[in-house]
Amino acid sequence: MPTLLHIESLPRKTRSASLDVARAYLDAWRDAHPDHRIDVLDLRSTALPEFDGDALDAKYADLSGTPLSDAQARAWADIRQLAQRLHAADTLLFSVPLWNFSIPYKLKHFIDVVSQRGILFSFDERGFGGLLKD
Ligand SMILES: Cc1cc2nc3c(=O)[nH]c(=O)nc-3n(C[C@H](O)[C@H](O)[C@H](O)COP(=O)(O)O)c2cc1C
Repeated sequence: MPTLLHIESLPRKTRSASLDVARAYLDAWRDAHPDHRIDVLDLRSTALPEFDGDALDAKYADLSGTPLSDAQARAWADIRQLAQRLHAADTLLFSVPLWNFSIPYKLKHFIDVVSQRGILFSFDERGFGGLLKD
């Protein structure tokens, strides 16, 4: 079933302007796509893996072609599992408040964790390529 993934990066569920905008969009989306599924990834309540230690070492081991240790492989599997929500979606909707002329730190954390070679993009002698469908 086609899926829209709504990625919420706002800290408050009530009195949230960005969530109001997203809800208006989702109402229109449901009318236009009654057969589509809506998944919600609430970054406020999601335990995001830290991107340090084994996860960081796994990234550089992959880049240098070094086999991953068991701990690095577990850290990488957690990241792959989180990114799976993006792969399962056909459409991504981000509700993002402006924080200090940028994005909330939870969203930056999520982007830094999942933006990995072999997970969201490929990188080889032919250059970069996106791995998400469409
Ligand atoms: C930590 C923080 C930083 C903010 N930084 C900015 C900013 O740089 N520029 C701005 O116009 N509004 C800023 N705001 C105001 C928010 O963008 C505004 O309150 C918005 O409605 C928040 O989204 P929400 O209602 O979905 O929570 C900031 C608010 C917070 C809590």
